[in-house]
Amino acid sequence: MADQPSAYQTDALIAEDIEAYLQLHQNKGLLRFITCGSVDDGKSTLIGRLLYDSKMIFEDQLAALEADSKKVGTQGQEIDFALLVDGLAAEREQGITIDVAYRFFATEKRKFIVADTPGHEQYTRNMVTGASTADLAVILVDARKGVLTQTKRHSFIAHLLGIRHLVLAVNKMDLVDYDQSTFEHIVADYRSFAAEIGVTEFTPIPISGFKGDNIASAPSANTPWYTGPSLIEHLETVEIANTAAQAGSFRMPVQWVNRPNLDFRGFSGLIASGSVKPGDAVRIVPSGKTSTVDRIVTMSGDLDEAVAGQSVTLTLADEVDVSRGSVIAAADDPPESADQFEANVVWLSDQPLIPGRGYWLKLATQTVTATLAQPKYEIDVNSLEHLAAKTLDLNAIGVTEVTTDKPLTFAPYADSRQLGGFILIDKLTNATVGAGMINFSLRRAQNVHWQSVDITREQHAGMKNQKPAVLWFTGLSGSGKSTIANLVEKKLFRMNRHTFLLDGDNVRHGLNKDLGFTEQDRIENIRRVGEVSKLMADAGLIVITAFISPFRAERQMVRDMLPDGEFIEVHVDTPLEVAEARDVKGLYAKARSGQLKNFTGIDSPYEEPETPEIRIDTTAMTPEEAADLVIDWLLRDG
Ligand code: ADX
Repeated sequence: MADQPSAYQTDALIAEDIEAYLQLHQNKGLLRFITCGSVDDGKSTLIGRLLYDSKMIFEDQLAALEADSKKVGTQGQEIDFALLVDGLAAEREQGITIDVAYRFFATEKRKFIVADTPGHEQYTRNMVTGASTADLAVILVDARKGVLTQTKRHSFIAHLLGIRHLVLAVNKMDLVDYDQSTFEHIVADYRSFAAEIGVTEFTPIPISGFKGDNIASAPSANTPWYTGPSLIEHLETVEIANTAAQAGSFRMPVQWVNRPNLDFRGFSGLIASGSVKPGDAVRIVPSGKTSTVDRIVTMSGDLDEAVAGQSVTLTLADEVDVSRGSVIAAADDPPESADQFEANVVWLSDQPLIPGRGYWLKLATQTVTATLAQPKYEIDVNSLEHLAAKTLDLNAIGVTEVTTDKPLTFAPYADSRQLGGFILIDKLTNATVGAGMINFSLRRAQNVHWQSVDITREQHAGMKNQKPAVLWFTGLSGSGKSTIANLVEKKLFRMNRHTFLLDGDNVRHGLNKDLGFTEQDRIENIRRVGEVSKLMADAGLIVITAFISPFRAERQMVRDMLPDGEFIEVHVDTPLEVAEARDVKGLYAKARSGQLKNFTGIDSPYEEPETPEIRIDTTAMTPEEAADLVIDWLLRDG
């Protein structure tokens, strides 16, 4: 199987295939589903059977099959089916840790995309990815084993990710002599568990993926007692998510503003729910402005109506302000905006969640900065118990509060996947580290409003006759930050400047005495110092801070809090060997001997500034010279 052609394996080709595939079957409904189970449950065999029995396997897959059957020099149905299954299993194994394998097939009635994800707990993230866009999940159970822990995990995740149609496929019925009571026993077992997680409806089907019973048609001669549909019949007739979404109120997140010339201004996006007609009254969220729809423009001409699932460009009767990220909604039922939420979060990264750190949050077409609180609890995906948690590790699922820097227009995930689902992105690596589902907004967010005051920051600074600034010293412990910062303050004081020095060791005796040196505590340390510095700069002061502040992300966060040009990063660049040799407080010795944990430079990282405004090489100058360098820089900069 090593050289098994697998053109549909790589992401790029999947993307191409999906396009080609969709064009091929453009006018049929599309059902996306996911299969949950492990190879032992007969997952590859079942998928092979679906592709095979539907007789409309995507062409690349057929080509792969043919090439393979020539290679082994055999022809004929049974061999082809076995080869198909082997090929799928081999591919699954190779691709297991990368992502989700998407496979395509179609019948006379519908086209299908099936997300094939590995079943083990360590691949929860893969299952979440596959489930997030699926309308239906096939939960595979081995008739000989019945409902297992993993069956429950798969069902819980599918339900959490908003899949409303579950099929309980009791497989390998041939190995239990197609025994009706075995099947019914498993169904009863599953029903009582399903109720616990809030699943009230599911479709149980007795099948044999290997023999083909109840896959394409039902009942199979072997299960005359079964009265329901075959698996394919069920897949062909079950309600598709877009159909359900069409029932809701109209909402379209704006993807981009289309302005080819001065006469045309259109707003493009994918309709998340409801339908829209020219003449409909709409409200723009969050601005609250109202207008009416003028035209619905598409590549193939104007439409009289558009519905959920369609991508369109709307023009409005009035010149209202609409930008990317706005949501155009039914005027009488607009979605909420808020900046604090409770959400379920699935952690997708090897790097654990850091409460308090700013991540990019993308929801529909909106991008904001979000911080997550320490989880309220983690959910044990096997027992569904709530566990106490300080963070979330790879594959963990928890409930936490999310705060965003700007209001988000949203809907609870249970009502809208598009407006309730989000991803979290690490700002430095750009990796997707988490996926979340909004449960509800927190009331307190709506009840605290910004109070405007009459004396402005300009007036505060003007009275002191100076330009506010934050001189942010960063560097290793013992690098000389405090010494140089202290000298700088003295010099500024003599120049009649109004200053204030915030020093790590001192602030940790008061405001931050509840914080230690874990990553999370250091982030909170810097967040608070950042906020205090900002208030002092608002008061017109020149603020000088001396904190290790080891992480780029948080130094950037403070920079972003302040007006352009007011954050001046001063890297006190002392090599570790030098700081360690000085060891003024004897802390390096303690850290080396293991008495002090998480010590910066030893067993906790220091991320050097890439482009600081000022860099001080303390091996090349005295503290006095360093302080002069900073003052000179300030004078030059005005
Ligand atoms: S920061 O990382 O959160 O920015 P901060 O500058 O406030 O650190 O505090 C650093 C000071 O705390 C050091 O100068 C040192 O005196 C003391 N300290 C105690 N434990 C540690 C530790 N594990 N790592 C670094 N500094 C420590």
